[in-house]
Amino acid sequence: MYSDKVMDHFTNPRNVGEIENASGVGTVGNAKCGDIMRIYLDIDENQVIRDCKFKTFGCGAAVATSSMATELVIGKTIQEAMEVTNKAVMEALDGLPPVKVHCSLLAEEAIHAALWDYAEKNGIRIEGLEKPKTDISETDEEEEY
Ligand code: FES
Repeated sequence: MYSDKVMDHFTNPRNVGEIENASGVGTVGNAKCGDIMRIYLDIDENQVIRDCKFKTFGCGAAVATSSMATELVIGKTIQEAMEVTNKAVMEALDGLPPVKVHCSLLAEEAIHAALWDYAEKNGIRIEGLEKPKTDISETDEEEEY
């Protein structure tokens, strides 16, 4: 049911933890399943993501997608990080079962929420970034099931 990569990131998640004095922190949940994900970003003066950590209280797919998402954004600029969508995370994991697609949306939204927090703290605007939701259950894309 799960790819080797998903199993690997679930059983051995990368970048678990917190960043003290993070440049941006984003927390997003899904009220339907009750899962919550928090992403911490450390962003340098050139707007490059130096470090990223996560805490996820959620299902295995949510843990695997957060782990992969942190790996994908580290070293990227904030603008490049906007391209780390849930589809990009799923592709990097060699796919997710259809009923688990929504879990990867948590990762995308949590990154956006952390970027939003960073932008607000620094009084800047990140192109293409809209105010993230704290609960994505309303926006679950039914057609993706
Ligand atoms: Fe809720 Fe996976 S079941 S994030």
